[in-house]
Amino acid sequence: DREVLEEAFQVKVDAETRIEPKDWMPDAYRKNLIRQMSQHAHSEVVGMLPEGNWLTRAPSLKRKAILMAKIQDEGGHGLYLYSAAETLGITRDQMYDQLLDGSAKYSSIFNYPTLNWADIGAIGWLVDGAAITNQIALCRCSYGPYARAMVKICKEESFHQRQGYDIMMVMAEGTAEQRRMAQDALNRWWWPALMMFGPHDAESAHTSQSMKWKIKRSSNDELRQKFIDATVPQAEYLGLTIPDDQLAWNAAEGKYDWGEIDWDEFRNVVNGNGLCNRERLETRRKAHEGGQWVREAALAYAEKRQQRAAS
Ligand code: ACO
Repeated sequence: DREVLEEAFQVKVDAETRIEPKDWMPDAYRKNLIRQMSQHAHSEVVGMLPEGNWLTRAPSLKRKAILMAKIQDEGGHGLYLYSAAETLGITRDQMYDQLLDGSAKYSSIFNYPTLNWADIGAIGWLVDGAAITNQIALCRCSYGPYARAMVKICKEESFHQRQGYDIMMVMAEGTAEQRRMAQDALNRWWWPALMMFGPHDAESAHTSQSMKWKIKRSSNDELRQKFIDATVPQAEYLGLTIPDDQLAWNAAEGKYDWGEIDWDEFRNVVNGNGLCNRERLETRRKAHEGGQWVREAALAYAEKRQQRAAS
């Protein structure tokens, strides 16, 4: 019966055997994965928008080509993740509808505006940096298709992070005005980047079950701390200041102590009231409507080919 099946499932997870699409799995495991993977996919797709804003204004042809490649990678990550989530019995159309009707979340970070070119550097450095910290852990997720998708995604995220740091380095070594822009971008993106890891463990609804099922390998707070410890020296190298006056090296514990996230701001953004929430969803809705004829044409073409093959 179900209890026996669930126990056998947990034994398998504990033994680090990957769960594959056709294997038996508890309903709640399937649901939790669909939730996380679809939100992850949506984040990649909505994540294209803040950067898309700068494609026409990138400072050189080279920077434009790099930014375009990075944004295309993100579209690809979204498709990868939608496909991986489809193995759990939901369709891409269903997931997309959930994004567009506001019932599925996407990462809070993409509801902030990109105001100057240094923001593109800060996004690569901090946002992609935070994303990799989280996604490296997901390469060992118990669900096979998710874990495998993460391997390629992490390689590309690593390139994204470096291109962002490269932009920051050029600006930090540039004119006083460029240094000011770099610092301004760091000031605005630092705290939202820390929010990407989600609520504190004590407040996190899904962490303990997700860790037991090895969907998550590290908790929100563990990953956030790891990101801070790796990123503070990078800011020092740039000669920039992290906007946290409580930030201090804790030699006894071998980690940085730091201030507190503004959780009201986090909740506000997650609940749809951030600076760009409405604009982001509106843009996705328009893109979806605008692409309707392409989907119809592709389906009609596929049907025609099928009929031809059958006759
Ligand atoms: N933005 C929006 N929603 C968030 C965020 C955030 N930064 N952090 C947590 N939440 C939501 C969760 O989705 C959950 O909502 P739900 O129950 O309605 O689905 C709720 O807040 C409670 O949080 P947790 O219980 O901690 O949720 P979870 O265990 O899923 O942990 C986390 C959140 C760490 C984001 C996890 O889902 C995860 O690792 N996801 C995969 C990575 C990912 O989505 N990255 C997206 C940004 S990176 C990028 O796209 C480049």
